[in-house]
Amino acid sequence: MKVILSESEISAGIAQLARRISDDYRGRPLTVVGVLTGSLIFLSDLIRRLDLPLKVGLIQASSYRGRATSPGKLAVADLSGLDLAGRDVLLLDDIYDTGQTLKEITALLHSQKPACLRSAVLLWKEGRQRVELTPDYHCFRIPDVFVVGYGLDYNDEYRHLPHVAALEDNERPDCRAGFAV
Ligand code: XMP
Repeated sequence: MKVILSESEISAGIAQLARRISDDYRGRPLTVVGVLTGSLIFLSDLIRRLDLPLKVGLIQASSYRGRATSPGKLAVADLSGLDLAGRDVLLLDDIYDTGQTLKEITALLHSQKPACLRSAVLLWKEGRQRVELTPDYHCFRIPDVFVVGYGLDYNDEYRHLPHVAALEDNERPDCRAGFAV
């Protein structure tokens, strides 16, 4: 697998992003809402570096299903457990690709009437955007390749990799010799 971002590059990028967010909010209380499952590792690394009074919320959403590498219809689980009214909210996702997920989840969170809603992504995949909304913060721009690792998956595999790598066709588990499809 071709490594696109090493563990140390990711760590440095997140530290820089955390400083920027901490400076922008300057001690104001913030609720970080992570989109599961892909943002899991990004969320845990970023929030430990934020120098702010902080609450964390989680939502489950998915647009890639199993072995598909192109988006399907977005499914978002119930948001009623979040208490965002009047709060500064930062929506956190792993990757900005077509932008459909960001657009749909932003609309859902707005219905809870946060005081301010911004978004941050680890990766911004270039040349794929289909919506006007862009993330307020991002760590890295990457080319248009399907990536795994650092929370990102293919058919729920590879999330645990400490780096981000491009997934080649012959590296998909269902394409490996001897793997039952
Ligand atoms: P959209 O197109 O809505 O996509 O911006 C955002 C969601 O799609 C998933 N996604 C990927 N997952 N490797 C992955 O493992 C990728 O290259 C990739 N591109 C998009 C991801 O769940 C993200 O939240």
